[in-house]
Amino acid sequence: MTDLDPNLAALKGRRVVLGVSGGIAAYKAVEVCRLLVDAGAHVSPILTDDAQRFIGALTFTALASEPAKTSLFGDPTDPIPHTRLGQGAHLVIVAPATAKLIGKVTAGISDDLLTATLLATTAPVLLAPAMHTEMWEHPAVVDNVKTLTERGVTFVGPDAGHLAGGDEGPGRLTTPEAIVRAAAEVLARGHDLAGTRVIVTAGGTREPIDPVRFVGNRSSGKMGHAIADAAARRGAAVTLITTSALAAESSVEIVSVTTAEEMYDAVVSRFAEQDAVVMAAAVADFRPKVIAGQKIKKHDGPPEIVLEPTPDILATLGERKEHQVLVGFAAETEHVRDHAAAKLAAKKVDLMVANDVSAPGSGFEVDTNQAVLLDSNGRAEELPLQSKTDLADAVLDRVRKALAHRGEERS
Ligand code: CTP
Repeated sequence: MTDLDPNLAALKGRRVVLGVSGGIAAYKAVEVCRLLVDAGAHVSPILTDDAQRFIGALTFTALASEPAKTSLFGDPTDPIPHTRLGQGAHLVIVAPATAKLIGKVTAGISDDLLTATLLATTAPVLLAPAMHTEMWEHPAVVDNVKTLTERGVTFVGPDAGHLAGGDEGPGRLTTPEAIVRAAAEVLARGHDLAGTRVIVTAGGTREPIDPVRFVGNRSSGKMGHAIADAAARRGAAVTLITTSALAAESSVEIVSVTTAEEMYDAVVSRFAEQDAVVMAAAVADFRPKVIAGQKIKKHDGPPEIVLEPTPDILATLGERKEHQVLVGFAAETEHVRDHAAAKLAAKKVDLMVANDVSAPGSGFEVDTNQAVLLDSNGRAEELPLQSKTDLADAVLDRVRKALAHRGEERS
């Protein structure tokens, strides 16, 4: 790998803080440092006290772009190093990231230079965990990783393999090459959606039967919220039209709706000024024709509920679209690709995210999803089972490409 590697171009000239916490894999961070410098990054190493039990700061100082730092205090030429490093960084990497480091970042504890820098930065953060399998799989660590992922932190690894003390299993620091590649990817994504306006819909609509009951579905809104958050982190101006009470990134404009009709009005009235619309919501196809004004009483016997179609939001957008990129979701339980391809054509969308909601790890309420991306040129890409956050970024990568393509066509 050289600085000519096109996959690493995003690192060139960027300021990267390389944090090293205290695990046996700390020695591999030396190679990470060297590869980052080779790729043209300005690398500022920070070692925790425990890291220095495994590896000397001098090694990093010799290889990096500036002397390695180990303390918040004691350097009169650099009185507040954590804000200088945190605010100035384009990316903060921690490799290896121990269970302790991950726990402190999750809790917002800043009791040394590295954790203070991690709190003081608004740059993307990439963590490369390394620990014993039992620790990696401990519910506390699992929860922390989940929380940090939701906050936009990217994880690379760990791999499975030999661990210290002769043990074997998941928890091994991934390779320096994989860490540096992931760093380049995070930087390349950066704010690549800056200047674009995106609507994301999320959650299942609820169609009232009477004042207390509704026709609904099992959608939790997690997928749509993950897309809205990821788009916001990538610099888009995001309007999230949602039925869910889940939180979202602070820059996301939230419009709360309940029914398909309300969602239709909220999306369609804003459509003209959007660059892209991602319809991740599970919109009810039918609603009760008549909504009882009062609670339907049991003693009146089983009610006959007559349904009528709701407006199809995506199909309406497909008819009206001008420059906008349209993304639909197809939640299927059989013949996934065929059904999704038919919907893509019928609703005139550019990208369909198709998933088998009955497959393990996919679909409603869970944090993972496995999807096939279909585009309007008939291409299909099968994606792995991954977190909804990662799938969100994969979908947005496609949206960005489609927007760039459209920009080229128009110029
Ligand atoms: N959709 C929509 N308005 C509706 C129904 C669906 O905008 N009234 C959107 C969904 O948000 C999704 C896509 O259309 O992006 C496909 O939704 P899905 O429920 O999978 O397909 P349907 O067209 O409703 O077909 P079916 O329920 O028969 O599978």
